[in-house]
Amino acid sequence: MAHELIEKITEFENLSSKAIQNSSTLADLQDLRVKFLGKKGELTQILKTLGKLSPDERKEIGAFANQTKDKLSGIFDSQEIELKKAEVNRLIASQKQDVTLNAYPYAQGSKHPLIQVYDLSVKIFRELGFDIAEGPEIETDYYNFEALNIPANHPARDMQDTFYTAEGGVLRTHTSPVQIHVMEEQKPPIAMVAPGVVYRCDSDQTHTPMFHQIEALLVDKGIHFGHLKAVVQEFLRLVFERDLQTRFRPSFFPFTEPSAEVDMTCVFCNGDGCRVCKKTGWLEIMGCGMVDPAVFKHVNIDSEVYSGFAFGAGLERITMLKYGINDLRLFFENDVRFLNQF
Ligand code: DAH
Repeated sequence: MAHELIEKITEFENLSSKAIQNSSTLADLQDLRVKFLGKKGELTQILKTLGKLSPDERKEIGAFANQTKDKLSGIFDSQEIELKKAEVNRLIASQKQDVTLNAYPYAQGSKHPLIQVYDLSVKIFRELGFDIAEGPEIETDYYNFEALNIPANHPARDMQDTFYTAEGGVLRTHTSPVQIHVMEEQKPPIAMVAPGVVYRCDSDQTHTPMFHQIEALLVDKGIHFGHLKAVVQEFLRLVFERDLQTRFRPSFFPFTEPSAEVDMTCVFCNGDGCRVCKKTGWLEIMGCGMVDPAVFKHVNIDSEVYSGFAFGAGLERITMLKYGINDLRLFFENDVRFLNQF
């Protein structure tokens, strides 16, 4: 009888341990735990028959049954751990798709090429020790012309077609009036640049009614043309990121004396001559000169003591030459196929 029971328990153990290890879900495992080890489970059923045994046999079988129960409990526990792990792995695998990701990638904007050159120019002059100045875009006749030694009825006014406002102001035609504002407020030494928007009553393939300039002014004792050349040369070298030759051609501006136009080595043919530079090897890049004593007079700076240089350049032109852009209108059309290239 005892022997039979031991066999029965052993068989139960074999069958149930296999069943436990084959279970594939936590719910199944729980069912099996009830079925095998529960109060009304199979092992309990087997042990109910112990009553028929002698006390010694009962002790022996009881101990054996308890060992079996312990073993099976252990198998249950480790199977439970395995199934829980599998469950977590399944969950991770099923959520691999990151629903927090954007369905459509956002197009990342970037700075307009003109503004890139604007910012670069400001950075270069800052590093050269210049301050950044600003002036109003709606000027008076005095600042835009008169104080810059361009009197009314002077033919030099014809160089700039002007927008007038109903109140008698003018949209500044150049950044040069910032020179006057700065010199009214500050006395030498002065080193400033003024980048900004200017307006002219012009509109064709190579002119837009609104465009950008950068103005520079340096005033101190003993400033001469050599300083002007050095600063212009360094600015161009840093903007175009290459060594360039410059050439200063005599010219005329009412607010500088002497005045010059600056040419630089053609960036397209390196001076060999091409269509862009009309076979000259040179590109005109800015106007400049030594501040005219008549201008100093307007701002009460003694031209016997101080001297200075000034220059003004178009930022659209610099940007076009830097990036090889051949049509001014591209800057203002905001076609993303153009803008994406910078
Ligand atoms: N203001 C001039 C223009 O718009 C450019 C210029 C020429 C600026 C000579 C200067 C200068 O400061 O010295 O055509």
